[in-house]
Amino acid sequence: MKAVILVGGHGTRLRPLSCGIPKPMVPVLNRPLLEHVLLNAAKHDITDFVLALNYLPEVIKENFGDGNRLGIRISYAVEETPLGTSGAVKNAGPFLDEPFFVFNGDMLTGIDLGEMMRRHQEVKPKVTIALTPVDNPIIYGIVEQDEHGMVKRFVEKPTWDKVTTNLINAGIYILEPEVLQHIPSATYSMFETDLFPKLLEMGEPVLSFPSDAYWIDIGDPQKYLKANCDLLMQRGKEIFIEGKCYIDPKAEIDPPVLLAAGCTIAAGARIRGPAVIGPDCSIGENVIVEESVLWEGTRMCSWSHIKDSVAGFHCDIQENCYLETCILGDYVTVGRGTREWEAKIPPKSYLPPRI
Ligand code: GDD
Ligand code: MG
Repeated sequence: MKAVILVGGHGTRLRPLSCGIPKPMVPVLNRPLLEHVLLNAAKHDITDFVLALNYLPEVIKENFGDGNRLGIRISYAVEETPLGTSGAVKNAGPFLDEPFFVFNGDMLTGIDLGEMMRRHQEVKPKVTIALTPVDNPIIYGIVEQDEHGMVKRFVEKPTWDKVTTNLINAGIYILEPEVLQHIPSATYSMFETDLFPKLLEMGEPVLSFPSDAYWIDIGDPQKYLKANCDLLMQRGKEIFIEGKCYIDPKAEIDPPVLLAAGCTIAAGARIRGPAVIGPDCSIGENVIVEESVLWEGTRMCSWSHIKDSVAGFHCDIQENCYLETCILGDYVTVGRGTREWEAKIPPKSYLPPRI
């Protein structure tokens, strides 16, 4: 089966974590987010992918190449200017000659994609949309359905007075290739506000596929942290060590904890899971790392404590700091004795890209 993955967004809401790298490359359990998306799809027999790219395409292309390393086939459709979600799929062109999947590239899910395709083939709609229940529908697209599970209405980012259901668009679609004719070429257009409302207006059958399976979108740093913790807990309450590390016998590690290669954990340090520590991190004496994610090369000096937080690449957290619910961009230095709650600290040299 084939799939287009939409990975052209700027990841603005994920800043400062996405200041230095495109969102699909942010490490989740020490692997790029997009790798999880691809491998999960591959588990459901999707083998051929087009990555629809726009922002920082080279970084993504260099990492994933032709997909051989992951046992899949990948090609690329790069937009010179953003074409929107449906415009990007139209841009994937002749590749799409059979019913195919489209995924938002920023969500992780256990939705049964094989079953979704079976339902699609059984009911034969033009489009099938996966739905998931959420507590806060206003930041998503809500989808109303009739008693037969056919979609009646699609409202993107509704205000609370328009919220009629907690079921939202999970960002997974199956499309019949013929619907591509309703998407203009080389023009910005969105599934959510253009194609879906248009198909419903035309009376075309659009099927819903509600699922209670695990689903999370990596919309902001809090959800990024939650996704790491959830996935690690799903793996099991263990200590996972990915390569050679030095762990002092007087350090304490409460699983689930994931340590990448090259980490050092000094005496008296305590890692309270779920925690993910990237390659070559250094955890000093009597440091506490609690429900946090540290990216490659981050150093925590003695007696510092980080809790419910994320630190980007090569941060330097000096002695005696206390950081709770903080998000540090790359190369951030936190001076000795700093105490911070809910701070978002961008990388020093960071200038927002002109969008
Ligand atoms: N190639 C390409 N070009 N990709 C794009 C473009 C574009 O112009 N614009 C957005 N994308 C990609 C993003 O990278 C992301 O993977 C996906 O399309 C969705 O864009 P977001 O910006 O993350 O949208 P959202 O989170 O506000 O809302 C969408 O996802 C929700 C579920 O997470 C909508 O589809 C909602 O309806 C949905 O509920
Ligand atoms: Mg999103």
